[in-house]
Amino acid sequence: METRYVSFERTRIAVHVTGRGPLAVLIHGYPLDHRMWADTLHGPLAEAHTLVAVDLRGHGHSPWCGDEAHTMDTFADDVSAVIRTLSDDPVHVVGLSMGGYVAQALWQNHADLVRSLALVDTRAAADDAAGKAARDAAIRTAVEQGRRAIATAMLDKLLAKRAADDAHGLLLRARVLTMATAMPVETIVADLRGLRDRPDRTAMLPDITVPTLVVVGSEDVITKPPEAKAMAAAIPGATLVEVPGCGHLVPMEDPAAFAAALGSFWAGVGGG
Ligand code: MLT
Repeated sequence: METRYVSFERTRIAVHVTGRGPLAVLIHGYPLDHRMWADTLHGPLAEAHTLVAVDLRGHGHSPWCGDEAHTMDTFADDVSAVIRTLSDDPVHVVGLSMGGYVAQALWQNHADLVRSLALVDTRAAADDAAGKAARDAAIRTAVEQGRRAIATAMLDKLLAKRAADDAHGLLLRARVLTMATAMPVETIVADLRGLRDRPDRTAMLPDITVPTLVVVGSEDVITKPPEAKAMAAAIPGATLVEVPGCGHLVPMEDPAAFAAALGSFWAGVGGG
């Protein structure tokens, strides 16, 4: 894996690249970074695709830019700069959860860069009043108790129940906890403000004209299967894959099933 930096204006975005072939950009969720894609980056998809896992600003290797809020539109603009730097052609875009909100913003604001969309464990709707209140409570927790409190609170919601029970599950928990506890408090707060205030993109779904795959874990308690089904039904021609036994992090919980779903989707898109 090669790590590169794409610099523009006063921003520097780290990207982690494997494979060869048509380009696919992978956008991580919250409170995570590019490492959530480790199995994808080093799995079978890299044999026929160039896989580019982005660290959104303030996450992983990408420096903090001093923003009060990380809006999904700002993240999407950063990803658009990455795509323009790395490719002359539209690319496959894969976003998990917050990364899926960013992928939808990318489609809305930079559709010419998108060849296909994979929306993984994500939704189109905005936060409701209870959701916004929960973001504010999480901001207070982050500021008053620090990042470990956020990481441990998130952990049980991110992974399916079975993830706790065996060696694979313990390793998964450790990997997620490592990423989540690496998040600086200022990044957590800026993300939570951006997530809280993100727009509802449900009305945009029927206007998506690129091939779209929707993936959801059958035990996802953050973005639940019925929401994924409704999202897929609203996007013309979209394919829905529900992965049994997984929670909110399908690419980490069942990398083989995820790679199979994405691989056959990309094959159907044509030309890789
Ligand atoms: C994520 O995984 O990116 C977050 O759970 C998204 C959210 O909280 O809405």
